[in-house]
Amino acid sequence: MSFKIRIESSGHEFTAAEKETVLAAALRQGVTLAYSCRNGDCGTCKGKVITGRIDYGTYDEKALSQAEKGSGSALFCQAVPLSDLVIEAKEISAAKDIPIRIMPCRVMKLEKLAHDVMRLWLKLAEGQRLQFLAGQYIDILLSGNKRRSFSLATAPHADEMLQLHIRHVPGGLFSEQVFTRMKERDLLRFQGPLGTFFLREESARPVILVAGGTGFAPIKAILEHAFAQGIMRPLHLYWGVRARRDLYLHDLPQAWAKEYRHFKFTPVLSEPAAEDRWNGCTGWVHQAVIADHPDLSQHEVYASGPPPMIAALKQAVTAHGLPTDRLYYDSFEHAHTTV
Ligand code: FES
Repeated sequence: MSFKIRIESSGHEFTAAEKETVLAAALRQGVTLAYSCRNGDCGTCKGKVITGRIDYGTYDEKALSQAEKGSGSALFCQAVPLSDLVIEAKEISAAKDIPIRIMPCRVMKLEKLAHDVMRLWLKLAEGQRLQFLAGQYIDILLSGNKRRSFSLATAPHADEMLQLHIRHVPGGLFSEQVFTRMKERDLLRFQGPLGTFFLREESARPVILVAGGTGFAPIKAILEHAFAQGIMRPLHLYWGVRARRDLYLHDLPQAWAKEYRHFKFTPVLSEPAAEDRWNGCTGWVHQAVIADHPDLSQHEVYASGPPPMIAALKQAVTAHGLPTDRLYYDSFEHAHTTV
């Protein structure tokens, strides 16, 4: 049995499966409600049930008093619907709505995805979750007041573990540590979420997403969020790398292209190796975008990658009709690759 839930102020609707909390159901379907601990302790997810019945779940009375409960309030990270609901809840739609925090985390898994890309799986302390928008990044805090920025490669509905894609920069302060000394169970500290690179959901325009190398990480998060939310705008991903071996999660966008008719994937190799036997797109990724879309006046473009890629893309897309206020980008200038 499932129940329909409607947020009164926005009209957003989603469905909760049996025994699923309101918050879990909302996040699974790409509706970003405010939350923090997901444990019934902090009160961040508090909202009101306007009509319908819920099981309040277990929670700390400091987070929800008897009086609040009596006036219709509930903690949506704990509340399980017992009927269809209409609720009042705080929805997150902009980075400014989310507090930036410093948090410890533990390395749960190191997974080599390519010759120079490591996927790091991070878990927060018991009872803590990071609220963020798909596409944002965090700063890993290092000794000597140094920090390194990495985009979150996970969408908010899959926040049990955070995922980073780290490219090996020989001699790089953090990436060298990741590739040579880091072990599972190591502790790290980070600050986040940061940045304004996230999908503008109020628009219905077709979207072109352009990733360069590990710039795929935030784009992956944005796409997984868009798929979870059922966004049906045309989505076309271009992923530019040097050779076939650099397409480190190639199967994933290929699978999306099979599953979602509104999603297209074009990998672009700038220097395919002979053994690649590549008969796909070659050259620079911005040239591939323009070749397919000579008129960009009706599009939005989201790009993430190294500064030279962003600079070339910016020039090319604006010359082909894209208004500058519809180009959103995450240039890895914030120390993704610096030593
Ligand atoms: Fe902390 Fe619900 S998120 S009480």
